[in-house]
Amino acid sequence: MDKRKIILDCDPGHDDAVAIMLAAINENIDLLGITVVTGNQTLEKTTNNALNICQYLGLDVPVFKGCPDPMIRPKFVAADIHGETGLDGPVFEPLTKKAEEQHAVLWMIDTIMKSDGDITVVTTGPMTNLGMAMRMEPAIVPKIKEIVLMGGAYTNGNVTPAAEFNIIEDADAAYVAFTSGRPITMVGLDVTRKALCYPAIVERMGKVGNKASKLFVDLMGHFCKSQKEVFGWEGGPLHDPITIAYLIDPSVITTKPMHCEIDIFSQQSLGRTNCDFFGYQKKEPNANVAIDIDVEKFWDMIEENIRKYN
Ligand code: RIB
Ligand code: CA
Repeated sequence: MDKRKIILDCDPGHDDAVAIMLAAINENIDLLGITVVTGNQTLEKTTNNALNICQYLGLDVPVFKGCPDPMIRPKFVAADIHGETGLDGPVFEPLTKKAEEQHAVLWMIDTIMKSDGDITVVTTGPMTNLGMAMRMEPAIVPKIKEIVLMGGAYTNGNVTPAAEFNIIEDADAAYVAFTSGRPITMVGLDVTRKALCYPAIVERMGKVGNKASKLFVDLMGHFCKSQKEVFGWEGGPLHDPITIAYLIDPSVITTKPMHCEIDIFSQQSLGRTNCDFFGYQKKEPNANVAIDIDVEKFWDMIEENIRKYN
């Protein structure tokens, strides 16, 4: 089977870190590069976090700094969940890996334009870099194989009742992506909140006993504690790696084609992914929205890939 070529655009972030690990380890994924965006923390911090994860795991993957702010509206971070560093918990060696010189958006444009149309863009943070790339060079749009995002919800949000963090942080960028006409797979809170990383899961991954296993345990130590304090979860919902798990084995989630509109106009519901679950608007679906997850298979995939790390 040909490897799936991906660009992983992220805002590390504890769950982004596990997504990076999964994408880098799995033999069926060709991680072309990591583009970083403001989200869980400021761009300097999310970039440092991406570099630290790559350095710790010994990943020879280029990291590119992207947009320091959303396209239009002011940024806000999620320090309550991810801490002041954006990756509180793990302790890393002094950082020597450097980000590439080229801006993430320009690298994304160049890479997609040179491609045969076989690159999947995975976003696990606000979609600012992708939105900007689409606006700066519309010719990349038809060359994107698929957009796979962690974001949104057709049930309750996690920043407001209406909106999920990655979307509300840059609703305008999400609007650009969802109106692009490219195939979209949306992994929203509706399913990520079923992948709760309970203490037994952390213990299970800890028993693997390699560097990837230790990173997982150190990440979850902070992430699960903060998720319990903020949301009352007994285990933190491991949102972002589900996008990668889907690319490795699409059967890990169940999706439903829906017409999904991003609300960029209202105040109360800004950033809402208005997914027409029942299709009663009779509008053409523009996204495959995740409606369920095989949680057992997901954790098996996480353990299997942690075991593969060497
Ligand atoms: O709402 C959860 C999402 O927002 C995750 O991607 C998390 O890392 C943050 O970016
Ligand atoms: Ca994220």
